[in-house]
Amino acid sequence: MASYPKYQNHEISPMKCPVNLEDVDLFGQGAQEHWYEAYEILHRESPVYRIEGGGITPGTDAYVLTKHADIAMVVKDPVRYINLTQQRIIDFAAQGLSAEDMFKTYRSLMQASMVALRPTQELYIKHRKELTDPWVGTGATRHREMITKHANDLIDEWINDGSVEFVSRFARPLPQRVFASILGFPQSDIPQLAEWGDAVVTPFVHGTGLKHELTPEQTKTMLKRLEGFQDYIYEHVRAKRLDPQDDMVSFLCEVHYEALDRKLTDLEIAGIVHAMILGGLETTQYALEEQAQLLCETPGLFEQLRNDRTKVRAFTEESMRMRSPTHGLSTRMTSQDEVFQGVKVPAGSLLHLRFAAANVDEEEFPCPFDLELERQGGVTRHLTFSAGPRVCPGANLSRIEQQIAWNVLFDRVKDISFADDNTFMHQPGIMLGTLKVNLNFVQA
Ligand code: HEM
Repeated sequence: MASYPKYQNHEISPMKCPVNLEDVDLFGQGAQEHWYEAYEILHRESPVYRIEGGGITPGTDAYVLTKHADIAMVVKDPVRYINLTQQRIIDFAAQGLSAEDMFKTYRSLMQASMVALRPTQELYIKHRKELTDPWVGTGATRHREMITKHANDLIDEWINDGSVEFVSRFARPLPQRVFASILGFPQSDIPQLAEWGDAVVTPFVHGTGLKHELTPEQTKTMLKRLEGFQDYIYEHVRAKRLDPQDDMVSFLCEVHYEALDRKLTDLEIAGIVHAMILGGLETTQYALEEQAQLLCETPGLFEQLRNDRTKVRAFTEESMRMRSPTHGLSTRMTSQDEVFQGVKVPAGSLLHLRFAAANVDEEEFPCPFDLELERQGGVTRHLTFSAGPRVCPGANLSRIEQQIAWNVLFDRVKDISFADDNTFMHQPGIMLGTLKVNLNFVQA
């Protein structure tokens, strides 16, 4: 019998904890507090869970996949399982609009940039290899020193206090500072960048249902909050074209994109920056704060890791498996009739990939709620970052950030424990994010 994470706070949820399949609701208000109970029911009774009428077009259904084997197969085969973002880009590209006209019509910098730079799956791979990998993928190791400095600076601010609210004073500002440094934006702009970062992720936090839908009112508010963001990026692009520095935006201004044999326009660069901010800020924050909670919940773990740093990597991987920041995304569609776990899924169905459920699938990970630093088969088999050709492009950066963060924390702090005043309230939406984690600690 699985033992569930202790973080869940059933009392504060407006939804009652599911006991059987009829109770399962992964998307309603307060669902976060019972996700892991719901996964056990789904794995046992309905590992491919149909949501009638939940598909992309009227009359089609959506299916929630929860098994590791199914999701791994889907994400590794982009021909059979269509990536909806890529499909949208292919459809837009077929309209033959320029990136500028695309932006004027649809108001999405990211999509306009994608249509111009990576309108096919093949160009997606090249775009990633040439433009983002050198900074947040394979090249992310170049940031080690900078990340270490930011981690130390943040700890300096509270190390003499004996207690700290870990989210606002470490887990959230660390990825913000790191990102500002990578992109080449001044650290003093972080409050404004954070406001834009929050606005960008609105659908994943305040959207409803499996498609993260916003009301027209919410969309209007989001766009209002994003005012100035685009001009800000353009301003920096223009300045860096004249006076390039050692940062990602300067690199994007100068790089010759081999795949299209040309340089990038301002709009294309702005779209890439937008995508980085969307994907990269909150996710790493959630990973770090869930790791702090796991350390408080597991007797002896803090000391063990502090004394044996070779295990820090395994700890960050196992904790991302057990408490995945991105619980699920509705990003794929079947291109032909399929059968998953004996369930027929027609062509044209929407697939909601429940990465976090796959990560606690007992068939793949025996005793899934035990944190095992030497898990058989390796600690990186989880699907937290997805897998296959569309695997998260910033996974390497996030991994390095987490590993450095804990190494620095282990250097400077002897032990941590929960303070008395935690409610473990989670934010709404599709991410697992605890809003506040109050810790007591002993300085090293
Ligand atoms: C713990 C941290 C993170 C988690 C859990 C995470 C998770 C994911 C997942 C599950 C996907 C979907 C992949 C798919 O569709 O198969 C994704 C995509 C993406 N991630 Fe991450 N991510 C993290 C950190 C980052 C960082 C640091 C960046 C930026 C540097 C980033 C940028 C992106 C982008 C741009 C995409 C969309 C790629 C596309 O166009 O298909 N992510 N991420």
